Amino acid sequence: MRRAIYPGSFDPVTNGHLDIIERGCKLFDEIIIAILVNPEKQPFFSVEERGEMLNDVLQQIDHKTCTLRVDSFSGLLVQYAVAQHADVIVRGIRAISDYEYELQMALMNRRLEPNIETVFMMPAESYSYVSSRLVKEVFQLGGTLEGLVSPLVERRMKEKISQR
Ligand code: PNS
Repeated sequence: MRRAIYPGSFDPVTNGHLDIIERGCKLFDEIIIAILVNPEKQPFFSVEERGEMLNDVLQQIDHKTCTLRVDSFSGLLVQYAVAQHADVIVRGIRAISDYEYELQMALMNRRLEPNIETVFMMPAESYSYVSSRLVKEVFQLGGTLEGLVSPLVERRMKEKISQR
């Protein structure tokens, strides 16, 4: 039984994240999609809203026999991973520019918890430039998000803006 943690901010979940989860499902029996609770950041969506959206969009992907679970965590990722009895942390790498930061994190996490492995996965090339940060920027400046996020996520973004 291989259980992986896929941690992140997911503010909001993009099609790139979903692509990584789908690919991860070929390797793992269970993936816990873990949203970081970060009081220092001012997010677009609350952790609860991000969790709801993740649960909704995960219904739309091909997860084969892999169990997908959405959760949130605060504090050290490796402590959370140990508490969840996970063997692996999954991180998506889009470009070389991601690698430096991801390598630092992976090596620090290994130092903190040598029993947990970090697995880097590459999304489809078509998502290699997609990030939650750019999605929010394009949205706020009136650009289309078609193909970048699920229509459900775009709808939630529009609702959120109209409430402000
Ligand atoms: O989607 P993000 O914002 O790139 O995800 C970053 C995340 C959540 C993976 C990273 O910030 C994290 O693991 N935070 C938890 C705190 C921690 O464990 N820090 C030490 C890691 S070296």
